[in-house]
Amino acid sequence: MKKLIIKAIILLIATSSNCIAEVPGKTIAYACYSCHDEKLDDLKQAKKLSVEKLSNILLALKANNQQSTIMGRITKGFSDGELIAVARYIGQ
Ligand code: HEC
Repeated sequence: MKKLIIKAIILLIATSSNCIAEVPGKTIAYACYSCHDEKLDDLKQAKKLSVEKLSNILLALKANNQQSTIMGRITKGFSDGELIAVARYIGQ
């Protein structure tokens, strides 16, 4: 019985930490939907961006290495890790 409870706790911790890892990208993506379609389909279809390419673009926008009107300001509101997380979520 004790073993079962311990297994259940381990499973709970394992699955809940998975959820925590996935929340930021998804949560951040909500901030993008107002201008881009859900999952940024407009960007993906137009350019077929890979997760890596998307991450690089977002980081370049943040560092002012890519010209933009508004995306530079938006990306500055997020950490590099958060931008990579949103790129991973969108690129799924
Ligand atoms: C206020 C509207 C707005 C929001 C919110 C917004 N974007 Fe954008 N996005 C734009 C505009 C406008 C452009 C065109 C580039 C520019 O002028 O800034 C763009 C361009 C892009 C591009 C393409 C850059 C390229 O290489 O052409 C990507 C990728 C992108 N946005 C991702 C995102 C992500 C991810 C989010 C959420 C964190 C987001 N955008 C939120 C307006 C927005």
